[in-house]
Amino acid sequence: RQIRQFNHDLLKWFHEKGRSLPWRETNNPYYIWVSEIMLQQTQVNTVIPYYNRFISRFPTLHALAEAQEESVLKSWEGLGYYSRARNLQKGVREVAEKYNGQVPDDKDKLLSIHGIGPYTAGALLSIAFSEPEPAVDGNVMRVMSRIFLIDDDIAKAKAKKEFENVVQELIAEADPRAFNQSLMDLGAMICHPKNPECPECPVRNHCRAYDEGVQTEYPVKSGK
Ligand code: ADE
Repeated sequence: RQIRQFNHDLLKWFHEKGRSLPWRETNNPYYIWVSEIMLQQTQVNTVIPYYNRFISRFPTLHALAEAQEESVLKSWEGLGYYSRARNLQKGVREVAEKYNGQVPDDKDKLLSIHGIGPYTAGALLSIAFSEPEPAVDGNVMRVMSRIFLIDDDIAKAKAKKEFENVVQELIAEADPRAFNQSLMDLGAMICHPKNPECPECPVRNHCRAYDEGVQTEYPVKSGK
């Protein structure tokens, strides 16, 4: 079946060419959580040293929960968007108190935690807990819009739902942890916004935009 072949081609590439990143060497949901918050507004290469330092200073969820806010902000210095650090610590304290320090593997519980929205919940469920849940950000929308010629306006909130539905269907037949991260790597390494490197793409044979030569017209994004 087509989905099988798509997943196979994508994951084969990911295992051969995907990036080695420090947060990929763990399934610890607290570590994945830290990485995903850092990655929300900051490039991967910038995040790596901050992530490593942060994890060595606050090696457990309880360590972060019990830390002085001041020292947490100090570790965040240079990353910017300090509210991310405050929100992360607030969420972590909530998990320490309400869930005895165990990050829940349940979507509704995750969504109820301070600072965790649909993207972070999806990332945690798929990457830390291997649950088949989408984690759709701008990069994933770009990749999927091209492959499936999805012309929903990504500036509009309801587009995200459409992309999540598409990912949901594909991920059901794959390793969720690898699947979501392979889309992130494809978006970062090959399926660039302006000059996608289609000859290098492991799924170009499945890509409708490539087939029609309209890669750079996707995703559709209105002025505001
Ligand atoms: N961007 C957001 N999450 C990521 C991850 N887990 N790996 C690489 N890039 C990401």
